[in-house]
Formats: sequence, C-alpha cells, structure tokens
Amino acid sequence: MHSAYRITLALLGGVMLASAHAQMQASMPPSTQHAASPADTRQNVDFPPMLKQKTLATMRMHLQGLAEIQQALAEHRFDAAAQIATMKLGMSSMHGDQMTEEARYMPPGMRHLGAQLHQQAGEFAVAAQDAAVTGDSAKPLLALSRMTQTCVACHATYRLH
Ligand code: HEC
Repeated sequence: MHSAYRITLALLGGVMLASAHAQMQASMPPSTQHAASPADTRQNVDFPPMLKQKTLATMRMHLQGLAEIQQALAEHRFDAAAQIATMKLGMSSMHGDQMTEEARYMPPGMRHLGAQLHQQAGEFAVAAQDAAVTGDSAKPLLALSRMTQTCVACHATYRLH
C-alpha cells in the first residue's frame, strides 16, 4: 500500500473514533457519563488549605512555563527557553520555605517526583543552552518531554485533599 494512503487511512480512522466517542458522550445522560469515567485511584494527600492554594498557584505557573518554553523552542530562542525553565520549573521557581513545607506533607514517592521535576528543569536548561550554540532542538525537545512525563506521573498518582 502506498504510504501516504496508509497515513490518510490511519488519520481517518482516528477522526471516526473521536467522533463516535463524542456522539456516545452526547447521547449519555450526565449521571451515566460520570459512572462511565474510570475510578479515581489517586492517593489523597492532605495539605493545609493555605499550602494547597500556594501549591496549585505554583502548578499553574509550571504549566505557563511549559507553554512559554514550547513557544520559545518553536522560535529557536533557546537561551530564553533555558531561562524560563530555570525561573518557572527549576529549584528557584519556588521559595525555599514553600518547598520545605510541601516536603513535610508529601509521601516519599511524591517528594521524589517533585525533586525529579526540578532536576529535569535543570537538565532542560543545559540542553537548551547547548542548542543555542548548535541550533539543534532535538535534545531540548527530548528533555522537555521527559519533564512533562514527570508532571503526568505525579498527577496520575496523587491528588490534594
Ligand atoms: C510532585 C507531584 C507533582 C508534579 C511533579 C507536578 N504536579 Fe501539578 N499537581 C499535583 C497535584 C497533587 C495537583 C492537584 C490535583 C488534584 O488534587 O486533583 C496538581 C495540580 C496541577 C494543576 C491544577 C492547578 C489548579 O489550579 O487546580 C496544574 C495546572 C498542574 N498541576 C500543572 C503541572 C505541570 C505543568 C507540571 C509539570 C511541569 C506539574 N503540574 C507537576 C502534583 C504535581
């Protein structure tokens, strides 16, 4: 089979699946939709209300950081991408006292993922600085995807009470 044809078929299949899914959702009463969603198996983590608020604000800043990084990479502004990662996702993206307080309430696995995110932000910054010299965005893109996988891993496992 011609490869362009095969790709077209695969795309069509995806579109059809997506629209079948949308139709299913639309025809279901809201209560069934809820029941059909997978059970929430995330571990509940208890944070004091003020700390939870601060943590969620930091999370939104992280997401903003990812958006800005992607735009900077697309425009080959590698130094800017490195700087955004350092400011919005790295160690210095949080005050030391917030980090210490959060760590107190986090189960070890969650603490590990938090530390991993900040470490990967540092690795991303190095890769982006290299790209500023080489012009090759492959390494910062790989580092960005690893960092994003850490967001996904933590969100899949934990929720704040
Ligand atoms: C160490 C764990 C952890 C990591 C790593 C992590 N998050 Fe979160 N994030 C959470 C938890 C827990 C919540 C609250 C989820 C809930 O209670 O349903 C949350 C919530 C959020 C929210 C919702 C904020 C709001 O106002 O409700 C956003 C956005 C978010 N995270 C973005 C990110 C992004 C982007 C990354 C990666 C760059 C990231 N997070 C990494 C644990 C983490």
